[in-house]
Amino acid sequence: MKLITVLISGSGSNLQALIDAQASNSLGNGNITHVISSSASAYGLQRAQAAQIPTTIHQLKTYYKGIPKENTQERTQKRHQFNVDLANLLIYGNIEGNPDAQYTKPHLIVCAGWMLILSPQVLEPLEKAGITIINLHPALPGAFDGTHAIERAWKAGQAGEIAEAGVMIHKVITEVDRGQPVLVKRLEVGKPQETLEEYEKRVHDLEHIAIVEGTNMVLKEL
Ligand code: GRF
Repeated sequence: MKLITVLISGSGSNLQALIDAQASNSLGNGNITHVISSSASAYGLQRAQAAQIPTTIHQLKTYYKGIPKENTQERTQKRHQFNVDLANLLIYGNIEGNPDAQYTKPHLIVCAGWMLILSPQVLEPLEKAGITIINLHPALPGAFDGTHAIERAWKAGQAGEIAEAGVMIHKVITEVDRGQPVLVKRLEVGKPQETLEEYEKRVHDLEHIAIVEGTNMVLKEL
């Protein structure tokens, strides 16, 4: 059995795809044992709780509380602590980093709509702990790294600049959305008069397939 922790920030429809795959014995030897959300209001938390998966909220704004935006030095220190605590949470199940018999570190972490950059302060301890981490990104490798990738691809398609876009599952490295692709799924763009909402629906449908297929591919190599 390979233990999986899923990171979310929002609705969790990709988490739901993984939960449904596991429930229908379509997630290989994967077992989702922890969901961590960067937002207390993420609907994905309810999806995890409905599936009896333990959840943890790890919110950056909690660390920034009471520190004015312009106080960049103190905020940088707090972001560092957030990252160190996140690494401990991922490896030990608690931010103190106490190894607890009740908690077993995951073999695989899946970023499913996790909206925060994972810095070396998070990735290096994970690598040392032998934990693989993958991410879902709604664009082709190197095409639209970073945020708003869906909207940027849709705009480029409607402008005739690109004929296809897609989604990918990739290994996570410190360079945002630049890790080695595990799985790439393509879809045509630039359909006449296709609205952003219509395109976004096609992307999400493809993501829900890719996140299960990509996770299964990585599980096989663990
Ligand atoms: C997905 O489009 C993902 O690619 C992007 O955020 C969205 C997450 O959706 N990073 P959900 O929370 O899995 O429904």
